[in-house]
Order: sequence, then structure tokens, then C-alpha cells
Amino acid sequence: MAVDLLLGLQWGDEGKGKIVDVLTSKYDIIARFQGGPNAGHTLEFDGQKHVLHTIPSGIFHDETINLVGNGVVIDPVIFKKELDNLSKNNIDYLSKLLISRKAHLILPTHRLLDAASEASKGKAKIGSTLKGIGPTYMDKTGRNGIRVGDLELDNWKEKYRTLSDKHEKIIKFYDVDVQYDLAELEKEFFDAVKTLKSLTFIDSEAYLHAAQKEGKTILAEGAQGSLLDIDFGTYPFVTSSTTTAAGACTGLGVAPNKIKEAYGIFKAYTTRVGSGPFPTELFDEDGETMGRVGNEFGATTGRARRCGWLDLVALKYAVQVNGITQLIMMKGDVLSGFKTLKVCTAYNYKGKEIYHLPYNIEAENVTPIYTEIKGWAADLTGMTKADELPKEFNEYVEFLEKELEIPIKVVSVGPDRTQTIER
Ligand code: GDP
Ligand code: IMO
Ligand code: MG
Repeated sequence: MAVDLLLGLQWGDEGKGKIVDVLTSKYDIIARFQGGPNAGHTLEFDGQKHVLHTIPSGIFHDETINLVGNGVVIDPVIFKKELDNLSKNNIDYLSKLLISRKAHLILPTHRLLDAASEASKGKAKIGSTLKGIGPTYMDKTGRNGIRVGDLELDNWKEKYRTLSDKHEKIIKFYDVDVQYDLAELEKEFFDAVKTLKSLTFIDSEAYLHAAQKEGKTILAEGAQGSLLDIDFGTYPFVTSSTTTAAGACTGLGVAPNKIKEAYGIFKAYTTRVGSGPFPTELFDEDGETMGRVGNEFGATTGRARRCGWLDLVALKYAVQVNGITQLIMMKGDVLSGFKTLKVCTAYNYKGKEIYHLPYNIEAENVTPIYTEIKGWAADLTGMTKADELPKEFNEYVEFLEKELEIPIKVVSVGPDRTQTIER
């Protein structure tokens, strides 16, 4: 069988966790392909909210295998906390959670390096989640990293010591004030590694290849969003992995010609957490309303998310880079009550009207050009069928479909599993 992908098309937090959970009943395997505990994927059902960071969002379904792919970076300490939460909810994860031996480990000193790097940047900081993501991927590409499979070797602690000692030297080199008690952090780390080792480690590319041959259905779950991609995002204000479709190939060992549907997920407006350019960002009451009604606070760090109008220039770019075949629009309910909605359909770039994302989208170069669309007043959160949706809402969706040239097959009108409408 082919492999389908689900990708965030903006700066993350589009609602990937919710939709993966909704789609899981159609799949045998849910496989996370990149990122790590910088992600916070929220699921809501039966009146309860769950936040996952590293564990795939299919874990609450009994029949589904959840795979953490080779492209993911794992912090055993955070992973253990996630497992503890699953245990509290009586989820038997042992039988359905598999980890790639090729996934890299986040060490305590990776987190410290992240903090030192950010502190040294001052005002130019990325706004990292400080989970050690950048330093871990740097060690991966620098060919120094420690992988899950290493935990099965006798000498892994020697490898650990060598790398951690090197990190300490680099932290000193940064010459910034980062306070830490490494002995304490290591105690927690080694304890969490024991828990990690109780799980099943596999050669995941071989596993997925066999699963495809057997006709199993597979959904690859992305983290972050296309505008945070290491190559195609708003560099340097990005994360350190390939968040776009290609990341599923390298992060799982799935061949490009085996990919079928690429679900692209976006909010009906835009949010961003952390630093970096954001052309349609609002600093007024409208932005404040989106943040308040949409409860826009980071699922991982609790930071307030910056809010603004939908940016179709950026969204089209993400659709192209990923080869999106179907769109899913989230949080339409948050826009209820706005008399007029604005959608950015072009940029004024250094005095010229353009329709593509230029190299530099900093505010001094780019001003958004908006198309205005009539809003709707009705509360959407109780609606369950497409024919209940207000006329103006449908007009908004149809406008986007026409601009993006891709159907929007699903709209989400609330955080709960059930608040999902197929069109
Ligand atoms: P992810 O990182 O892409 O999984 O998204 P997050 O979980 O970080 O952020 C999405 C937030 O929006 C979460 O708090 C979800 O519970 C919530 N959410 C998802 N879909 C909807 C929706 O359609 N309407 C509203 N109001 N909230 C939603
Ligand atoms: P999910 O999967 C939103 C942002 C951080 C920062 C930048 C780099 O929940 O959508 P990093 O810790 O990766 O070095 O941070 O990327 N960022 C996210 N923003 N959602 C995420 O994940 C994010 N993961 C990282 O805020 O600006
Ligand atoms: Mg999130």
C-alpha cells in the first residue's frame, strides 16, 4: 500500500495532533518522521485533553501501531513523562509503540547547549523551545550523535561520556551564564533511558517496507510546519529538521514514489510562536481576539502565540513545496463574529506587487496586500454537518480553494475529535 502524509503548512500548531487522531481509524500504522519534543500535539476526546510531544498521535487507538521514525530526536526524560501520562490513562503502549534504532538521542548537554546558543544570540535569538533540538541535529549531521540503537551496545556510556564532555567544553566557550547541575540531570537521564529500553527498538525502514508489501495502511505524521523547515522555512528562524514532505522519505525510509495523499493542514488564520518574520501579524484588537478565542498558547512552552490573518502567498508556497493533494482547514470557529475577514493574496515587496514568497520577508521589505471577505456571526462549534455551516463560511472556504487550486475536504470547528466536518 501507499503511504499518506499529514503536514503542517504554516509555522506549526495547525492542529496536526487532532487530525491525526481523527484519521487514525483509517490506518494500521502512524509514523512520526521528524522533530522531537519541541512539538506539542493536542488531542481532545471524552472531555479530556492530551498533549503528545514525541509519541505519534495515533496512540489512543487500540488497533494502531505507532512508530517513532529515524528522523525523530528523542529526549528520554520527556519521553518517559509522556509514557507515564499514557499509563495514567490506562493506555497499553508496550504492544503498539515502536522506536527506530536510527533515531537520535537528545542528551542533557544538548539542552544546555541550546540554552547557551540562544543566550549568546541576545536579541537575535531564534526563540527555540530549548529542548535541545538544534544541537542534537547538529551532532547528527556532524556524525557525532548517539542513536537509540547504541543503547543496545556495551560501550554506549563511553560514547555518551565523550560527547557530553565535549559539549561541556563548548558550553564554556559560549561564555554565557547557564547554570546547571549535570550530575542531577544525568541521574534523571539514565533513569529515563532504562524506561526507553523497555520499549521495542526496530529497524524501522525494513519494518515499513514489509508493512507496505503486506498492504498495511500508513500515515506519516509531521511535526512543526513548512515555514519552519530547515531549507524552505524563514531561515534562520526555523527548526533544524525537514518538516516538508521530503522529510517523510528521509525520516522513515519511505521511497518518494510510494507516497500517495499529502494532507496539508492549516489554520483559518495564522499563528507563530518564537522569533522571526510574520508579514500578516496583527498587533491590534483583532489579533488579540484570535489569541483569546483560539486559546493560542504553546502546547510545549506555554508561550503566547503571535496571531494574524491568513497568508495565501505563504500557504501557496507550502502547498507547492509539499505537493499537497487535500487541504484541511482548522479553527474556523475562532473567526466567528469578525464582520470582515482579511486574506493576504499578494505582497508589496520593495514597492512591487508580487505573488510568491521572496528570499526575505522581513517587515521592512514586505507589506501584505489584503482581499476582504464578509465574515459570519454564527457559532460553529456545535455544528456537525456541512449543510449547517453558514453561507459566508462556505464562501471563505471556496475563495481559498479557488486561490490554492486544491479542495478543502475537512474543516475543524473545535478542539474535540467530534468537531470535525467533512465537505
Ligand atoms: P499541533 O502542534 O499542530 O498538533 O497543534 P497544537 O496542539 O499545538 O495546537 C492546536 C490547538 O488548537 C490545540 O489546543 C487544539 O486543541 C486546538 N484546536 C485544534 N483544532 C481546533 C479547532 O478547530 N478549533 C479550535 N477552537 N481549537 C482547535
Ligand atoms: P508543533 O509540532 C510551533 C518553533 C520555536 C522556534 C523555532 C525553533 O507543535 O507544530 P526549536 O525548539 O525547534 O529549536 O525552535 O521553531 N517551533 C514550533 N512552533 N509548533 C511547533 O511544533 C514548533 N517546534 C518548534 O518556537 O521559533
Ligand atoms: Mg503544537
